[in-house]
Amino acid sequence: MSDAPTTADAWNGPVGRHWAEHHDRYDAMLDGFNDALFGAAALGDRDRVLDVGCGSGGTTREAARRAPRGSVVGVDVSEPLLARARALSDRDARIRYERGDAQVHPFRAAAYDVVISRGGVMFFADHTAAFRNIAGALRPGGRLAFVCPRPASADSQEGRVLGRLATLLGRGGPVGGGLAGAMASLSEPGRVEEVLTGAGFHAIRATPVTEDTRWGEDAADAVDFFLSRMPGLTVADGTRTAMCEALRPYETGRGVLLRAGVWVVTASLPDRPGRRARRA
Ligand SMILES: C[S@@+](CC[C@H](N)C(=O)[O-])C[C@H]1O[C@@H](n2cnc3c(N)ncnc32)[C@H](O)[C@@H]1O
Repeated sequence: MSDAPTTADAWNGPVGRHWAEHHDRYDAMLDGFNDALFGAAALGDRDRVLDVGCGSGGTTREAARRAPRGSVVGVDVSEPLLARARALSDRDARIRYERGDAQVHPFRAAAYDVVISRGGVMFFADHTAAFRNIAGALRPGGRLAFVCPRPASADSQEGRVLGRLATLLGRGGPVGGGLAGAMASLSEPGRVEEVLTGAGFHAIRATPVTEDTRWGEDAADAVDFFLSRMPGLTVADGTRTAMCEALRPYETGRGVLLRAGVWVVTASLPDRPGRRARRA
């Protein structure tokens, strides 16, 4: 058996601790995608919702607001993030969190109407098996809506600017705590279709959405945050200044904003198990 660190190790180690400590930063970065995610999820008043890879629970709490007579369970593999999620949600009895690896977690069968995820479904070793397990938690006819990154492209300010910051630091590749490959694992719609069809979903649709991601109050603040994701790195003053200059054009009255692209993926289960899949 391999001793190589898994993504679960990363989310229970420095990466997860960083997300937990800076949950408000990460929410500010990702909240711009909420309208597209929840528009696609089209939650009903009484829906029972499962939030996969819920992290510190920003979308779990938002789902509870949008399904005022429903309930929401957030599942995540990361203890530090779940601790943060619980601390932020303690007043709402309709929200519950479970620690588990969504690939194999023993979800209650057919217990949910809708599964949502904001960037929590890319980190699986076997995506088809994982989504099959998640499908088992959905009732027949249940819906899935998730957000995952689109491939970095020339029009992605975020990809381009973060790449520039990494280059200034003398780091060739993307910066992502060793998770960059997993982050991109569902970036090709053909792959999404293959995975979800294999897991029993139909009506699969991937819609491109581009929104602002907020990286900090101003360029200096954004650089501090960017560098905080690489603890122990010593950065020369000149490099820090050059990084600030790279971010300066993106300073706005609402902070440092970088446009970034995601797919909003929707799919559903057949009304009756075993019915033939069809396309959206
Ligand atoms: C990019 S973060 C997104 C967190 C949260 N959805 C948000 O929008 O703030 C990815 C999340 O997926 C979780 N995760 C990764 N692999 C997982 C797995 N196999 N099962 C459950 N959660 C997982 C991580 O712990 C992390 O909280």
